[in-house]
Amino acid sequence: MPTRQLAADAAGVAEAGALLRAGGLVAIPTETVYGLGADAGNPAAVAGIYAAKERPRFNPLIAHLPDLDAARREGVFGPDALRLAQTFWPGPLTLVVPAAAGGRVCDLARAGLPSVALRVPGSALARAVLAAAGCPVAAPSANRSGRVSPTQADHVLGDLAGRIAAVLDGGPCPVGVESTIVACLDGPPVLLRPGGVAREAVEAVLGRALALPAAPAGAAPVSPGLLASHYAPRAAVRLDAAAIRPGEAVLLFGPTVPEGLGGAAASLNLSPAGDLAEAAAHLFAGLRRLDASGAATIAVVPIPDHGLGEAIRDRLARAAAPR
Ligand code: TXA
Ligand code: MG
Repeated sequence: MPTRQLAADAAGVAEAGALLRAGGLVAIPTETVYGLGADAGNPAAVAGIYAAKERPRFNPLIAHLPDLDAARREGVFGPDALRLAQTFWPGPLTLVVPAAAGGRVCDLARAGLPSVALRVPGSALARAVLAAAGCPVAAPSANRSGRVSPTQADHVLGDLAGRIAAVLDGGPCPVGVESTIVACLDGPPVLLRPGGVAREAVEAVLGRALALPAAPAGAAPVSPGLLASHYAPRAAVRLDAAAIRPGEAVLLFGPTVPEGLGGAAASLNLSPAGDLAEAAAHLFAGLRRLDASGAATIAVVPIPDHGLGEAIRDRLARAAAPR
């Protein structure tokens, strides 16, 4: 199937919406990363996501909605979830809440769970597509399983051309790391994945610290999609590198020049000014670019762990995990 490239205009939005409604797979730009969208109420379409990504198992997916009203038809919002939605939506926050009776998100998209992950994206273009589709849209990142998440349309085509109906080209994603996932079920809200909204901002709104997922040894992860090795470039990744070894590719952050940089095969600075939001926006494209240098290892200088640094460090730790 040839993959169509749709422009970010009214015709492209209408076409993307029509393809989604008809059960097609369409990659859509959000403010975080490009998502591989399908009608979340259509199990055959959702199954197509797993096939196109070659995802080995059915992880629950995030259902995307154009606004809070549409989200409230799919999930039950208690006071914490409602406050977070009202503060951070539209934006890079996903809320896991009890699935609503009569909601349209199918069992396969929820991986059989009684909860549902919901998000109203900050990208106006994405919300226009969601409104045109008129259905909740399940959308994991639009990459093949195990690869680096796409932040540009050409990343999507590199992984999925010929496997999906279309990609809507909205240019580079401004946030660059996936949404923060917070579960508001029974008990205190839990941080399932650090992401585009800093933990500190969520905690300030809740007036309390986020709990960590309970992960008893040997148990299945609470957020089943959070495999240790994920976001993996082909090269090995070496974290918190204080000195560079000859031939390594180097991911830099801030003005500090590490020892041995002169012998590097390639290098790229996520944010010479040391701005974590700028670094997040450049992270996945940077990993792809350094991977293309052919170096066997990408060395990463230390990155602070506050604000969006927590999400950046999380993605880099997954890229560095044994695989
Ligand atoms: O920024 C993003 O969130 C992007 C863009 C496209 O919106 N989407 C994304 O989707 O990252 P995905 O499928 O890669 O991540 C979904 C995560 C998985 O880790 C999954 O385990 C978790 O959400 N999740 C979904 N439903 C859940 C549920 N009911 N309970 C716990 N975790 C859930
Ligand atoms: Mg992903």
